[in-house]
Amino acid sequence: MSDRPSNASDGPVVLGIETSCDETGVGIVVGGHLRANTLASSAPEHARYGGIVPEVASRAHLADLLPTVERACAEAGMVPADIDALAVTAGPGLAGALVVGVGGAKGLALALDRPIYGVNHLSAHVAVDTLVSGPLPPGCVALLVSGGHSSLLHVADVVTDVRPLGATIDDAAGEAFDKVARLLGLPFPGGPPIDEAARSGDATAISFPRGLTAPKDAERYRYDFSFSGLKTAVARWVEQRAADGEPVPIADVAASFQEAVADVLVAKAVAACVDVGADTLVIGGGVAANSRLRALAEERCATRGLRLRVPPPGLCTDNGAMVAALGALAVERGLPPSDLSFPADSGLLVTDIVSR
Ligand code: KG4
Ligand code: ZN
Repeated sequence: MSDRPSNASDGPVVLGIETSCDETGVGIVVGGHLRANTLASSAPEHARYGGIVPEVASRAHLADLLPTVERACAEAGMVPADIDALAVTAGPGLAGALVVGVGGAKGLALALDRPIYGVNHLSAHVAVDTLVSGPLPPGCVALLVSGGHSSLLHVADVVTDVRPLGATIDDAAGEAFDKVARLLGLPFPGGPPIDEAARSGDATAISFPRGLTAPKDAERYRYDFSFSGLKTAVARWVEQRAADGEPVPIADVAASFQEAVADVLVAKAVAACVDVGADTLVIGGGVAANSRLRALAEERCATRGLRLRVPPPGLCTDNGAMVAALGALAVERGLPPSDLSFPADSGLLVTDIVSR
């Protein structure tokens, strides 16, 4: 930490920068409390492609980064000189997008002469919940489901000890929502319109496959996910209807597909909690906004006596507050800051929580 006395009376001011995908997020956390959370999204620019175009995302980050930092400072009623430490997503994510955030954050750290923490995007998704529900218990399980990742983690300590339990072996859960939405003629990103369409559908109308849940997968793929077979099953079912000259019941397909995804995610997450002896499940990532996933998780966690923690939707999707939250925890624990030479690492391992 800088030896400059903090302007904030209630703890160090940590500014977090997130640019791993299509959202330029800047958050400010002061003494464990969220003071600003600003976002500039390039999602509309990707909509017509039906998925994120990395080069478009990188250019948008470049244009949006400093204005978003300025907006965050204004929202918190601060000036950049009030910042005590910076945190930035070092990875995993899109290489070009990460480079913009890491480069920009390093520039700010140098200009302000403040320490900087390169942090892991996945741990940050877990850490953000501390801003809402307080400290995490020692040892919980996290289910992180978004357009870019689907992981089950054993979080012994969100700042120092996170271990992978499993991940998707093909599509991410959000990617499956996006692809199925596309084949149903719904807009991108596909999660919200599928969630909406499913409200008036019958989740038992069509029995879609639950990937990697067969007894033969119980050992090797116990905590892993696969959504590519499910996506193909939906495509075949829709094609067959068209071939038969029948209309596609969009609400029923959406509800049945959503049920298959939620069922697998919750079943594996609850099994992981029981296996590792965790009493708390944290769910994060854009798909955590899904109403059926939340309801099913609540139901099954209650049955098993598990505590469920799901941040509000705005903190589940990618944002700067999550990065500031993890950075603030690192500061609070007295972890040394990252060396200024730390890289943007698109393949950063989940076990690398704070860059050295
Ligand atoms: O975390 P996020 O904002 O960005 C990354 O992909 O990292 O997650 C975006 C993903 C998209 O695939 C989107 O379709 C999905 O989250 N999503 C949802 C819902 N809201 C967003 N999926 C299912 N149900 C939702 N309500
Ligand atoms: Zn994310």
